[in-house]
Amino acid sequence: MSVQTVYPTVEKAGIKIAVLSPATVEKIKKAMTRFPKPLSAVLPALHACYEQFGYLDEPMYEAIAEILGVTRAEVAEAATFYTLFPKQPVGKNLVMVCKNISCALRGADNLVSYLEKKLNTKVGETTADGKFTIWKVECLGSCGTAPMMQVNDEFHENLTRAKVDALLEKLSK
Ligand code: FES
Repeated sequence: MSVQTVYPTVEKAGIKIAVLSPATVEKIKKAMTRFPKPLSAVLPALHACYEQFGYLDEPMYEAIAEILGVTRAEVAEAATFYTLFPKQPVGKNLVMVCKNISCALRGADNLVSYLEKKLNTKVGETTADGKFTIWKVECLGSCGTAPMMQVNDEFHENLTRAKVDALLEKLSK
C-alpha cells in the first residue's frame, strides 16, 4: 500500500521532507543534547514525529535524518523495528487487540470479530468516520489480564463484550 501524505512537505533534490512543527524540531534538538551520539536520539525523534502526526512515514525519516545528521536508512531502520508505530494515517482511536497465546485462549479472535461487526470495518482498516482503526498485534505484556487491547496509549484488560460496548460508546463521543 502506498503511503498517503497528509501534511505539508518540501522537496530537496527530488526527496520529500516533512514539514515538522517548531515544537517537534525543538524536541528533537533537545533529545540530541542528551546523548553523546546523534544516532541515539533517533527514537525520541520518532516519538516526537508520532506525537505530531499520529503515524510515521518516509518524508518524516528524511526530516529527522536532516536534523540529526544521520542517514535516512538509519532512521527508517529504527522506525520499522518498532512495529507499534503506525506507518500510515490511522483513525483517531487505534484499537490494537493482542493476538498472542493467552489472549487467543481467552477469546481474542471473538473479540476481533465483535469489533469488526460493531465498527463495520475490518482488521487493518479505518471506519468511514475516521474514528477507529483496528489492528491485531503481538503480545502487549499484559497476558495475566487477557483478553486485552490497547487503545491509543491505554490498556483495556479482562475484556468482555459489555466492556467493549461501554468503551466504544465513550470513544465515539
Ligand atoms: S498474550 Fe495478550 S498480552 Fe500477552
